[in-house]
Amino acid sequence: MGSINHEERVRHEGLREKIMSAEQAASFVQNGMTLGVAGFTGAGYPKFVPTAIANRAKDAHARGEAFGIGMLTGASTSHDCDGVLAEANCINFRAPFQSDPAMRNHINAGNTHYVDMHLSHFEQQVRFGFYGDMDIALIEATGITPEGKIIPSMGIGTNNQWLKTAKKVIIEVNSRQSMMLDGMHDIPADLGEPPFRQPIPIVKPDDRIGTPYLECDLDKIIGIVMTDAPDRNSKFADPDENSKTIASQIIEFLDHEVKKGRLPKNLLPLQSGVGNVANAVLMGLQDSPFDDLMGYTEVLQDGMLDLVLSGKMKSASATALSFSPDALKRFNDNIEFLSDKLVLRPQEFTNHPEVIRRLGIIAMNAMIEADIYGNVNSTHIMGTKMMNGIGGSGDFTRNSHFSFFVSPSTAKGGAISTIVPMVSHHDHTEHDVMFLVTEQGFADLRGKSPRQRAKLIIDNCAHPDYRPMLQDYYDRAAKASGLQTPHLLNEALSWHQRFVETGDMRINKMRLAV
Ligand code: COA
Repeated sequence: MGSINHEERVRHEGLREKIMSAEQAASFVQNGMTLGVAGFTGAGYPKFVPTAIANRAKDAHARGEAFGIGMLTGASTSHDCDGVLAEANCINFRAPFQSDPAMRNHINAGNTHYVDMHLSHFEQQVRFGFYGDMDIALIEATGITPEGKIIPSMGIGTNNQWLKTAKKVIIEVNSRQSMMLDGMHDIPADLGEPPFRQPIPIVKPDDRIGTPYLECDLDKIIGIVMTDAPDRNSKFADPDENSKTIASQIIEFLDHEVKKGRLPKNLLPLQSGVGNVANAVLMGLQDSPFDDLMGYTEVLQDGMLDLVLSGKMKSASATALSFSPDALKRFNDNIEFLSDKLVLRPQEFTNHPEVIRRLGIIAMNAMIEADIYGNVNSTHIMGTKMMNGIGGSGDFTRNSHFSFFVSPSTAKGGAISTIVPMVSHHDHTEHDVMFLVTEQGFADLRGKSPRQRAKLIIDNCAHPDYRPMLQDYYDRAAKASGLQTPHLLNEALSWHQRFVETGDMRINKMRLAV
């Protein structure tokens, strides 16, 4: 304790007295507590204390004692947070988003109660008391100023709220995060509660409306743990042919809208979901005719970073920076150039419907499946198995100027069609979904009735292996019911059932001929 590193990073003398080991910090966590933990898409989550908590849980379980906690985060963390805690079987309750394989298994096995929630709603719901008391906030910081203000790290997420709501606070100060992050964050003041809440004064994506620091009552801080560890930093696969085809169709469409005068030449602020297809769209914009782009997104990944670095995008606002190892190096090498171009805010602000609607965001998100009427499932495999969660896709989709959903037209080597008669779980309704894009084609659903949408989606987006099956389903449904949204209720989910029973959604050609 007390090395030069500590003095550089924790500049408040009183708080330096509270530096302790991860094990000491974890000893404050008791069975039955609720923790507000930092973390957003593998960025800015605590790296050491979760393992120490997991070890406490394992020891307690070995002694035959109960040890289970609730864990609320901003979004997903990483194996050394969600993963180790799930493996120790000590997370009784989890919200609002995760993407860790071990946590997913525990959720799907029924060991962990999981509330999948819109990210923009989560902080206020905690504030309103919907999730009960929060015992301890466990957040990551880059450093602490002499005044005791907290310099956030690569993500803000819900940290601002957890510091206010929790009874006690533990801070991991991660010396791996660059001190040059100081100044990149924008933490707004409280805007009040309904019915007296004030408007959010963000009128341009790069507006700053607050201060760069997180603050809390210093007496609440019970421990500071010094860490030196990287974020999740998952590598992106190079875009495959499907991703490139999807990306080029979106860019061609946007170009067409600009030429028709329906979009400004620098488009509207872009939101991009997580994953390889979303990243491919952003990479595709590098060679597009658009300049002076702006980003107003939730998580900023490699593709958007490179747009800012190349000068194609002039600024970007997000709640977290989630990079591959190579992109992290580019970020750190250019952090001075980026410091006035990137702004990180609490997720309640990056994802707020008010701001998204005002700025007129172009939202692009990936999906698990869509149905022939344009309803989208983002979360549940075969209607039952939780994948990750809705994340911010609902916040952006419903309130955006343009909402795109993208996916390859098949999954699992062609055994699954991502275009189905009826979605097996409903995240985004037909009212919110404007464009569906697969490698097969593009369906512009704006201003279309369900029957018009079905024709476009089947003809343009479905894989040829499944197109006749979808057409057959639709024709028979239209003939049988003839109503606004034709369905055969006894058959609508039969494709999923067939996959569960046989491992393939396809039926033999004989049936089609009948
Ligand atoms: N049925 C069954 N499995 C499917 C499927 C379907 N219809 N569609 C995709 N999958 C499987 C894939 O086979 C793959 O499985 P694997 O991991 O075993 O290889 C996995 O789901 C991921 O699919 P992929 O095509 O690689 O997509 P992705 O990484 O882009 O993720 C979502 C797609 C929908 C899971 C992801 O975007 C997500 O969680 N979205 C919800 C949250 C969100 O939109 N956040 C951003 C908002 S700001």
